[in-house]
Amino acid sequence: MSNIVTSQLCQPAKENDWSNPAVRRIYDQSFPAAEAMPPEMVSSGLQSTKENQLHLRVTWMNGEVVCISVHRALTSKITWLVFLATAKHLRSQGIGTEHMRRLKELIGCQQGAGSVIVFEIESTHARDLAMLDPADQSSRTARRRFYERLGAHTYGGHYEMLPFIQGQPITAAHLMWFGVRRWPMAQAIELIYHCGLFPSIPHR
Ligand SMILES: CC(C)(COP(=O)(O)OP(=O)(O)OC[C@H]1O[C@@H](n2cnc3c(N)ncnc32)[C@H](O)[C@@H]1OP(=O)(O)O)[C@@H](O)C(=O)NCCC(=O)NCCS
Repeated sequence: MSNIVTSQLCQPAKENDWSNPAVRRIYDQSFPAAEAMPPEMVSSGLQSTKENQLHLRVTWMNGEVVCISVHRALTSKITWLVFLATAKHLRSQGIGTEHMRRLKELIGCQQGAGSVIVFEIESTHARDLAMLDPADQSSRTARRRFYERLGAHTYGGHYEMLPFIQGQPITAAHLMWFGVRRWPMAQAIELIYHCGLFPSIPHR
């Protein structure tokens, strides 16, 4: 269990937090540049005041940024968690769990509260894992377990993660969510795909 003070858990970012080198280090260490939302796209989303606004939340511990997340409201009831990441040297200490639990409370998707947080993870289907080296296989399955331990559900239908950068491949993935067990996920998929951040959308 970590030593995070409640007042430093999952706090709304201050204006310059995305430029904080510690925040960017966590982002860069956690997501390959070709797959991640380009930092300048995050930056402009954070500065937006429209419905496409992104929200950065930051957890601090002992004066250090230790965990970050970015989300966006797709509707008043559906929030898209774009990413969550803990500083590499501080993983497996419960920080990600605490940050995510708090975000769920803040967004109001605890049991019965009526809102959902949707997010994408890379596929853990055996056929997709078979193409990866053992370290990547276990990190994909660990990521899915991490979210399942927090109570996330997995959409049973086909799902693909679209690239933020033109020319990058579409990735086999799962759509997961927190909140009520029954939710029309097709609606969430349409909202994510048409959120305006992807350069191309496949015909479905
Ligand atoms: C997923 C992540 C945020 C969890 O943060 P954390 O602070 O380590 O979380 P906790 O300590 O509460 O939980 C740790 C569990 O997360 C799981 N996990 C998920 N992804 C993992 C990864 N890449 N490496 C190690 N553990 C991972 C493990 O099951 C681990 O359990 P263990 O310690 O018993 O092995 C963190 O691993 C991370 O930043 N990964 C890279 C970015 C990422 O994959 N984000 C999620 C998709 S947006």
